[in-house]
Amino acid sequence: MRVIIRPSATAACVTAARIIANQVIGQPDSVLGLATGGTPLGSYQELIRLHRAGQLDFSRVTTFNLDEYVGLGPQHAQSYHRFMFSNLFDAINIDPQRVHLPDGLASDLTEACADYERQIVEAGGIDLQLLGIGTDGHIAFNEPGSSLASRTRLKTLARQTVDDNARFFDHSDDVPRLAVTMGVGTILESRQCLLLATGENKAAAIRGAIEGPLTSQNTATALQLHPAAIVVLDQEAASWLSRIDAYRHAESYMPDPDQLESAD
Ligand code: PGA
Repeated sequence: MRVIIRPSATAACVTAARIIANQVIGQPDSVLGLATGGTPLGSYQELIRLHRAGQLDFSRVTTFNLDEYVGLGPQHAQSYHRFMFSNLFDAINIDPQRVHLPDGLASDLTEACADYERQIVEAGGIDLQLLGIGTDGHIAFNEPGSSLASRTRLKTLARQTVDDNARFFDHSDDVPRLAVTMGVGTILESRQCLLLATGENKAAAIRGAIEGPLTSQNTATALQLHPAAIVVLDQEAASWLSRIDAYRHAESYMPDPDQLESAD
């Protein structure tokens, strides 16, 4: 696991965006796995900036999002579908036909989940999956106790996640209790995983994810099994790690992840 620690949340978001940008520059028909939440917003702003500067072309990119609330349609202000269009897709030249999110309104959710898995396979699999982490260690909505072999399915949000996400809604009662989410097994099949975390409130979950034992109680620990996982943190999210010096030392031998590759 490569651990990159940046001085600020803004710098961490830029680094994650540059890693995504280099994936797209190197492989213009990349399949990207994308995430919602407060954390990736800075990365999406950097991707939009690079696109507007003529440095990034999304016309051949395909995307799959991690999850969606059950019961919220694409036009609902708090749906992840709407989030993605408002915060990224409307501002870049992506083909909406190549954008995929789980359908939170599907009449047969089990079939819709199986279909989502099929679509990922038909697209050739996910090249780079962006991930956030919950304060309870979840990746996507794989709450504590989720099978580390799980596939896309219906999942109940943990109480802590409902509380954490209430800030996006008028009232905590409005937060949906169910979501469709890629499973941990689905995520681990991505060719590369990129976990982005910022802020002191993520420090405990990040310590567990990187330095704790593998456990379904912190599903981000499953990234320890992934052959190509990168974790990008700000100093606050990294503040509970015990081996910060080792990560910084290892990173000093790595190429600068902020450096954009040339398209040639
Ligand atoms: P956040 O959510 O970016 O809003 O903190 C992360 C997550 O729950 O995965």
